[in-house]
This record gives sequence, C-alpha cells and structure tokens, in this order.
Amino acid sequence: MGDHWFIILSIICGLCVAAELERFEQPCKGECSLSFLVIGDWGRRGAFNQSQVAFQMGKIGEKLDIDFVVSSGDNFYDNGLNGPHDPAFEQSFTNIYTANSLQKQWFSVLGNHDYRGDAEAQLSPLLRKIDSRWRCLRSFIVDAELAEIIFVDTTPFVKSYFLDPEDHTYDWRGVHPRKHYVNNLLKDVERALRESSAKWKIVVGHHAIRSIGHHGDTPELATHLLPILKANDVDFYMNGHDHCLEHISDTESPIQFLTSGAGSKAWRGDVKRLNREGLKFFYDGQGFMSVKLTQSDAEIVFYDVYGKILHTWNAKKQFVDYSSI
Ligand SMILES: *[C@@H]1O[C@H](CO)[C@@H](O)[C@H](O)[C@H]1NC(C)=O
Repeated sequence: MGDHWFIILSIICGLCVAAELERFEQPCKGECSLSFLVIGDWGRRGAFNQSQVAFQMGKIGEKLDIDFVVSSGDNFYDNGLNGPHDPAFEQSFTNIYTANSLQKQWFSVLGNHDYRGDAEAQLSPLLRKIDSRWRCLRSFIVDAELAEIIFVDTTPFVKSYFLDPEDHTYDWRGVHPRKHYVNNLLKDVERALRESSAKWKIVVGHHAIRSIGHHGDTPELATHLLPILKANDVDFYMNGHDHCLEHISDTESPIQFLTSGAGSKAWRGDVKRLNREGLKFFYDGQGFMSVKLTQSDAEIVFYDVYGKILHTWNAKKQFVDYSSI
C-alpha cells in the first residue's frame, strides 16, 4: 500500500517538475545593473543588411558592456534549419555576429519561420557544440537577479498556422495537441510571473501583442497572454515578427510593447493605419534595440543600421529608501 502511494506521488511530482519552465541564472554585474541587446528576424547569411546590423550591435554591445543577447525568433530564413548540421547555422549566426562584445550567451525563441524547418534542430545540444553562445528553447526563464525574463513560444498560439497553413509545412512535433500545449504554457507563464520577486519582469515572444506593422496585433496573444502579463505587473513585452522597430505603450497598464524584428530584411512602407493607440515610435528600416536596467531605472534604445539612435524610452521604478525613514 505505502509503496503504491510512493510510486503514485513520485509520478505526480515528476510531472510537476516536468511542467516547470527551465531556468537559467545570469548574475548581474557591479551594484547590480544589467544590459542586453534584442534582435529579431535575422538569419539571411549576412544579406539584407544583416551584417551591417551585426557590426553596429558589436559596437553598442561594447559600449554598454552587455551581459547577453536576446533573439526574438525567426532565426533562420526562409524555413528554419533543415537539421542540426545545416550550414546555415554558422553562415547566418557564427560567422555574422563576430564582434567581441557579442561573444556572450544568446537566448533565443523560435519564430514561425523556424517551425517551417526542423524546429527541434534549433533546440539541439549539437548546436551548442558548434557555437556555445547558442541557447534556444521553446519556453524558458532567464533569472538575471534584477530582472526575470520569461521566453514564451508564441507560434503555437496562432490558429491560422494550423487551420490554413497555405503551402507551408510546420514541424508541430511536441506541440500537438495545440490547445493542451498552449494551456499548459499559459499556466507555466502565469506561475513563473506570480512567483517572481524580480524588480523588472520581462516577457519575450516572437509574435507581437500590439503592432501597426504588416502582421499587426496577434489576437490570440491579446486574449490569452496579455491578461496574465497585466495581472502580474510585467514591465515589457518584447517581440519580433514584424520586420520593424516599434514602441507602443499599453493604454490600460504600465506595459510597454517593444518590437525588434529588424535584424535583416525590412519591410519599407508596410504600415497598418489601424489601432494606433499608445504608439510612441515606429521605424520600417533595419536595426536593433538595447535594454539597460538598474534597481530604479530602465532605458530602452532603438538603433538603425548605422548605429544611430532613433528612439529612447526611460522608465523608473518607485524606490523606497528605508535608510531615510
Ligand atoms: C540597408 O540599409 C540602408 C539604410 O537604411 C538602406 O538604404 C538600404 O536599402 C538597405 N539595404 C537593404 C538590402 O535592405
């Protein structure tokens, strides 16, 4: 009898642990400050200004003494990697982001284009043997003391990829059945945010919650993910997908929507006129974003292909100085 219970409990607990998002520790430096770059929609073997953007990332990365790089997905065009030995990995990643300052950990999610290839290849430990910077999982947490960054696999949220894939094939291994996958993921994200005591809470996904670019808002994320972010005091939602740089302030919460999807091919002039509520900045050329955090301050900066600053946003956290009470 006792043995049975032990086995049953072990199985249940095994499942609880399995459902938890994997967590990576990333200690902050000095008196606890943190900086990183965000780049999205990039892997084109250097073409479409990918190499120029990489060069400027190297310079800004050095200036800010970055701790890591965040990739918001669509890592390899057009159809992800065809396997863990696809030469596109080195051609579009290792051989492009060569600057000293970029020799840090890269934390990456998958985009919809990555799901059109062998999605599991990008998660494979074999890639880390080729280039140890690479760290790509479907969903995970980077615990950077000052900030907790929750990476969310957003492609399975988008119904049209399942119902109307056009002439694309998606690698849904490990995702089917979709509803189950998405519901579990939402629970994991909710729990991670609820349990987080980090000063700054950041969520990263490939698809935008809000965007005025080509794809626009992602209704599935606005309906299912956004309420969780709002209820748990998330500061920033960062994404790619639309090939632009963009900043929208939520009108109902302190959340800032930040799109950095301009790592290579940009969509000049592809702008939607709809729903411009809270729009602070939009740029339809190539570039990237930097994030700098301290206990009390956040600074978000967008750069173009020449490294020129296009837009800056500063946020403050209320800071209680107990020594003066
Ligand atoms: C590269 O960037 C420059 C400056 O924004 C732009 O004029 C040019 O069209 C871009 N090239 C490509 C191939 O996108």
